[in-house]
Amino acid sequence: MLKAIVLGASAGGGFPQWNSAAPGCLKAKEGQGAKARTQASVAVSGDGEHWFLLNASPDLRQQILSTPELQHKGSLRGTPIQGVILSNAEIDSITGLLTMREREPFTLMGSRSTIAQLDANPIFEALDREIVTRKIISLHEPIPLTMKDGCPSGLTLEAFTVPGKAPLYAEKAGTRPDDSLGLSISDGQRTLLFVPGCAEITPEILDRAQNADLLFFDGTLWQDDEMIRAGLSPKTGHRMGHVSVNGEDGPLRHFAHCSCPRKVFIHINNSNPILLEDSPERQIAEQAGWIVAEDGMTFQMEAA
Ligand code: MLT
Ligand code: MN
Repeated sequence: MLKAIVLGASAGGGFPQWNSAAPGCLKAKEGQGAKARTQASVAVSGDGEHWFLLNASPDLRQQILSTPELQHKGSLRGTPIQGVILSNAEIDSITGLLTMREREPFTLMGSRSTIAQLDANPIFEALDREIVTRKIISLHEPIPLTMKDGCPSGLTLEAFTVPGKAPLYAEKAGTRPDDSLGLSISDGQRTLLFVPGCAEITPEILDRAQNADLLFFDGTLWQDDEMIRAGLSPKTGHRMGHVSVNGEDGPLRHFAHCSCPRKVFIHINNSNPILLEDSPERQIAEQAGWIVAEDGMTFQMEAA
């Protein structure tokens, strides 16, 4: 069995974003025509009881408290969370780790570059290395995910680099090839692909998506210059390391013939009109077979 819960569907900043009174954010605040969403993270499990987090968002505490599957039952303290797998070292992917500092053992996995960012930031030493093991993921090879007690979880991870950029706070140091990963999780029969940040859709990504049962893909922006047009930010999507949903090089076009049965947009920026339930853009995305992720959405795939 392969089960995935969307803990958070929005990009960095969340929806609504704390400092925004843009029309979409006002709708989300009022719950009128748009649902609020926390920052992107997905929980995956092979048995419905033990979970691995794909990224640890700044909203992790709230996400755990609103997800019964992630709550501890029984002894005084504990957690069903066995590990955290990071796709990058962006603030919206790693700061939830600081929520997990209450002396809980778990495994922390990321690329060499991502682990180096954590190592360079002393605040993450709050996660005692004696009990929170940091592991550099070997790329392009299946890695069995083990639970805290060493037993197999039934899940296998395969990670691969995707075009991206250095985290926002480390841009001056330049981009490294393993700054951004795609994560493939399999129970041996079903496969889920998690690519929340992607600057270019490569043949490898297309090929992996073609063979996946569930794809979570970068839904940051609808079009490359939408934040500039809206007067929200001087940055394009490309400048931020994201292709745009409706771009020439974006997922609507590139995955149009992909046979993956469930394609889900995640890491959706508050400026993206697909967040608005009655928008033409939302209709276009859905007619193209895409699901616009919402917090709490659950996908369960049984063995074939
Ligand atoms: C991104 O995904 O582009 C980053 O999360 C940007 C940010 O940290 O604000
Ligand atoms: Mn982000």
